[in-house]
Amino acid sequence: MAQKKTRAIAVANEKGGVGKTVTVINLAAALTLANQSVLVVDMDPQANATRGLGVVPDDDLPSVYDLIMNNGRKAVEETVVTSRWEGLDLIPSHVDLSGAEVELVDAEGRENRLKDALAPVAGRYDFILMDTPPSLSLLTVNVFSFASEVLVPCQTHPYAFGALAELFDTVDAVREEINPGLFISGIIPTLVDLRTRVANVVMDRLKTDERYRDLVFDTAIRNNTTIAESAEVGRPVVFYRRSSHGAIDYNDLADELLSRSA
Ligand SMILES: Nc1ncnc2c1ncn2[C@@H]1O[C@H](COP(=O)(O)OP(=O)(O)OP(=O)(O)O)[C@@H](O)[C@H]1O
Ligand SMILES: [Mg+2]
Repeated sequence: MAQKKTRAIAVANEKGGVGKTVTVINLAAALTLANQSVLVVDMDPQANATRGLGVVPDDDLPSVYDLIMNNGRKAVEETVVTSRWEGLDLIPSHVDLSGAEVELVDAEGRENRLKDALAPVAGRYDFILMDTPPSLSLLTVNVFSFASEVLVPCQTHPYAFGALAELFDTVDAVREEINPGLFISGIIPTLVDLRTRVANVVMDRLKTDERYRDLVFDTAIRNNTTIAESAEVGRPVVFYRRSSHGAIDYNDLADELLSRSA
C-alpha cells in the first residue's frame, strides 16, 4: 500500500468540557465525507470518543491500553476497529487507561509508547485524530510525542480563554523536550452562542490577541443540542442529522482544515 503523508493531530485542552471529544468524533466523520481516510485514537479513559463512534468499550475489545502497555504484545492492527462508516477507523479506549500513568512510572521511554505502537499504521491514513483527557497526564504527553499538530477547541467563555495560555506553554515545553516538530495549528471556537455578550467578548479577544489571532479558525462551532444528542446515540452528527447546525459547522471545519496545509 502506498504510504500517505499522514497528518497526526492531537485535539487537546487541559480544561474539561470544552468540546474536545465532540470535535474528534465529528471532525473525523466530516473528513471522511471529504474523501479522507481517518483513524481516531481514543486516549481518554472516559472513552467518550469510542462510544460516540458507536463502539461500546468492552474488556474483550483490544484497546489503546493494550497497545501502550504492550499487553499480550498486541500488534496495532489487532486494536483497530472499523466503524460503520467507510474510511473511519478507531482504536478504542478502556477504563484501565487511567492506571497507565502509575503503571508506567519507571518505564523507560514511557513518553513514546503510543508513537512506537502506531508507527506501523501511521502512513495508511490521511489523518490520525487523537482525543486526550482534560489534564496534562502521561497520556497527553504520549499523544503530543506522536502528533505533528495540535488543534485546540476553546469554549467561548472567559475561563476557557484564560486556560489557553497554559496549554500554549505546555506545548512549548513538549516541543523543547520531546517533539521538536510539534506545533499548534489551530484554535476552534466551540459551544458558541453569539446571542450572548460573553461569547462575543471572547471571540473578539481570540481574534485580536497576538498569540492566538492567526490560529483561530473562521469556522465557529455553534451550540447545538443535536450534537449532544448524536453523541448519546453513538453517531457523528454529520451522519445523524445532515441539516443541523452541528453537521454544517463540522463539515465547514473539515473543509477549512483541508485548505490549511499542515
Ligand atoms: N457545539 C456543541 N453544542 C452543544 N453541546 C455540545 C457541543 N459541543 C460539546 N457539547 C456537549 O458538551 C459536553 C462536553 O463536550 P465534550 O465531551 O466534547 O468535551 P471534552 O472537552 O471532551 O470534555 P472532557 O474534558 O471531559 O473530555 C458534552 O456533553 C457534549 O455533548
Ligand atoms: Mg473528552
